[in-house]
Amino acid sequence: MSDKFIITPNGALTGDVHISGAKNAVLPVLAATLLTGQPCTVQNVPDLSDVEAMCGLLESLGAGTSFDASKGNLTVCAENLNTHEAAYEWVGKLRASFLIIGPMLARLGKAKIPLPGGCAIGSRPVDLHLKGLAAMGAEIEHTHGFICASAPKLRGAKIYLDFPSVGATESIMMAAALAEGQTIMENCAVEPEIVDLANFLNAAGADIRGAGTDTVKINGTRALRGVTHAVIPDRIEAGTFMVAAALTRGDIHLTNVMADHLKPVTAKLKEVNVNVMETESGLRVFHDPTMEVIATDIKTMPFPGFPTDMQAFFMSLMATAAGTSIITETVFENRFMQVGELKRMGAEIKIESRSAVIEGVPKLAGAQVTASDLRAGAGLMLAALNADGVTELGGVSHIDRGYCALEARLNRLGADIQRIS
Ligand code: UD1
Repeated sequence: MSDKFIITPNGALTGDVHISGAKNAVLPVLAATLLTGQPCTVQNVPDLSDVEAMCGLLESLGAGTSFDASKGNLTVCAENLNTHEAAYEWVGKLRASFLIIGPMLARLGKAKIPLPGGCAIGSRPVDLHLKGLAAMGAEIEHTHGFICASAPKLRGAKIYLDFPSVGATESIMMAAALAEGQTIMENCAVEPEIVDLANFLNAAGADIRGAGTDTVKINGTRALRGVTHAVIPDRIEAGTFMVAAALTRGDIHLTNVMADHLKPVTAKLKEVNVNVMETESGLRVFHDPTMEVIATDIKTMPFPGFPTDMQAFFMSLMATAAGTSIITETVFENRFMQVGELKRMGAEIKIESRSAVIEGVPKLAGAQVTASDLRAGAGLMLAALNADGVTELGGVSHIDRGYCALEARLNRLGADIQRIS
């Protein structure tokens, strides 16, 4: 059974918090370690259940992994891959596990992978990954819940993505790194995690240009070598603490952040009267008591637009802002799972197609609620920090997928959150 959080509002959160390495950068980089038989060390790795599941998957394929969680160093050696079949036991746990398809094809010429699991935020197909790999010469079959792909040798290709999917961009980039010839990928995702993956691959000997723009050129190389790579800070975790400061009318200083990755979030916070200031070592987010937090409209978009992963945090913030906000979700079709639970806490929210219309109320009320997925769960946790009365939040295992000791770190800033196992 999943743990519970008992959240007792305890006023403004204040102090310093060090942001962890990015989950969404670590997972693709771990998949990419399968591209070389030499050991790779990934640094700045957060101790998350998703990371543990990814390591379990890599080990089930024959790779060796060792994680020093206290230092954040994770070493993978994929010298001996003894199967091309990924077990449902692991893949069902996280969607990012599907990212091994490109490396497996490139290294072994075949891959059999169950369709992925992960957060229940929409249908989340993998057609764009498969279309790209097929363009590179892979034969793809879909049988009994498995994707079977084979390609004795992948060839570079010209690929136009119908949508700038983060995962498809990563899958294709990894496969193309060891393909024969040049791959040109257009309309690809430009998220910072894509650039981080390209940096890892280039350090390992790949030839990838243009990552972070909508056209990426990859000249395939014969083999990659082992490297040490530190992943970028987690912009979603940073956004969580930024909204915690805004919601509790507090003052939090975040270190280990990349301000550039947080521009859409910073802009929205400023728009609703929350101060965000760059400091020498990070970002300070604080509330000016003479200004009330006001409503705003938000539309989620691929980077550099407002991130879908932070939509739930802002919905919690808007639930008690002055005025009416409209939040429109354009990336995933089923990402308002927190709405029913927020309404149990007294929020006034109506869903109209892909938009949520939020009438700010002066205060939410603590209630018994459940996290349906990772970011929806974090959004509810944030809402509870500033509600009237105690909230009992179930489904904490979803939150543990993407945050390392979130409750302990919020408590260090003054929150009162107890974990009940
Ligand atoms: C990644 C992030 C996730 C984030 C999302 C969007 C990781 C591990 N996860 O997920 O936290 O919310 O980016 O920023 O990095 N799609 C298709 N066909 C495909 C692939 C995607 O239709 O083959 C659709 C999806 O259903 C979705 C949209 O494209 O509607 C965006 O998905 P994508 O960018 O691929 O997200 P993920 O890589 O799954």
